[in-house]
Amino acid sequence: MARHARSARTLAGGVSSAVRRSARPYPLFFTSGAGPRVDDVDGNSYIDYGLAWGPLILGHSHPAITSALHRQLDRELTFGAQHDLEYAVSELLVGIVPCGDLVTFASSGTEIVQVALRLARAVTGRSRFLKFEGHYHGWDDSVLVSYHPSAAEIGAAEGAPIPVAAGQRRHDSVIVAEWNDRTAVERAIATHGSEISAIICEPILCNSGCIPPDPGFLEFLREITLQAGALLIFDEVITGFRLKLDGAQGFYDVTPDLATYAKAIGGGVALSALAGRRDFMHWIANGRVVHAGTLNGNPLALAGAKATLEHLSKDAAAIYTNLHRLGDRLREGLEQALSAHGYPVVTSGAGPVFQVSFMDCPARCYRDLLRADTPLYNDFAMALLDEGVLVLPDGRWYVSTVHTDEVIDETLAAIHRAVA
Ligand SMILES: Cc1ncc(COP(=O)(O)O)c(C=O)c1O
Repeated sequence: MARHARSARTLAGGVSSAVRRSARPYPLFFTSGAGPRVDDVDGNSYIDYGLAWGPLILGHSHPAITSALHRQLDRELTFGAQHDLEYAVSELLVGIVPCGDLVTFASSGTEIVQVALRLARAVTGRSRFLKFEGHYHGWDDSVLVSYHPSAAEIGAAEGAPIPVAAGQRRHDSVIVAEWNDRTAVERAIATHGSEISAIICEPILCNSGCIPPDPGFLEFLREITLQAGALLIFDEVITGFRLKLDGAQGFYDVTPDLATYAKAIGGGVALSALAGRRDFMHWIANGRVVHAGTLNGNPLALAGAKATLEHLSKDAAAIYTNLHRLGDRLREGLEQALSAHGYPVVTSGAGPVFQVSFMDCPARCYRDLLRADTPLYNDFAMALLDEGVLVLPDGRWYVSTVHTDEVIDETLAAIHRAVA
């Protein structure tokens, strides 16, 4: 607490990303991490299911990544020019990502989503796009709308996009629909189809309840975008390299036109990527769609990504089967522990990323989540912290490749104590 107070004297809010403010009892300070565990400045060690909000697919300080970074550190930090790691990683990605004929790199998910949306506008000559309520695509003005609105805000907005932040530019480029609502999408296309350049979505709504698409919903989005002459963009910043090696595209067998990646792609380094069809990415290749950035494709980030992707690719079938098995085991154990004590709990998601919500039945869209008992989840998260288990404040749980059955056993015992 003293460190947070000291930090806040010079660092705005004492945190470096707005979402970290919501940590309870206050933003903790950490010193180191190894495998599935992370240590704080007071000497407490936690089993970590936050995993830095998703990037640490191989857990903390995985030797495959740290040794690759050390090797690269001895050579060069950045060139601002071409080097061998660029095509090494783009070749890996093109081999993995179903929609990826060509890729381009940036440093954050926010940036790379903007590249995708710009490209969609260029390709179609249209200026608007459709996003879904509750989906997060970064903090840029254009996409930070209708993210987590309250019931009152939804009522007052009458269907208009709801800005999140003070100072956000208002513009009419966004059309918002509810997740899993085919009628709403059909209505938007019928009314604005000739203006819509793209439909963008998180293929599993990880940022709001880890709500999966209804069966056939992603196929429906694929079909309707093709009919409307719009691009389908999967924002795979969370699902990429997490659900499966080939992400949600492989998991659901639906291929979008473009896909954005960050978080797990780098295993903890700052890297994002856009992958897409050649005829669309061609606009970036020929420079008509400008995508620039001083640190784009820097060797340090790409060394981390190469190590991560190679590690995940080596024995992908076994790695992802195990990730799903462990995630499902943890989920079931959580449900049993909480239900046994009379708590109405719902979990949703898929294997290595899932959500724990205190509510009576599963959500199909963001609005359903407004029924969840958030204060109760906060109490649960605090009780877990006391038992040595670190979770994100929003109810999302991540599992890494270095969580083992023994670690899950330890976690379930801690959960039982916390619930009691
Ligand atoms: C689905 C999704 N898209 C985009 C972003 C933005 O990524 P970044 O935080 O790297 O800018 C996030 C971040 O959480 C995300 O979850």
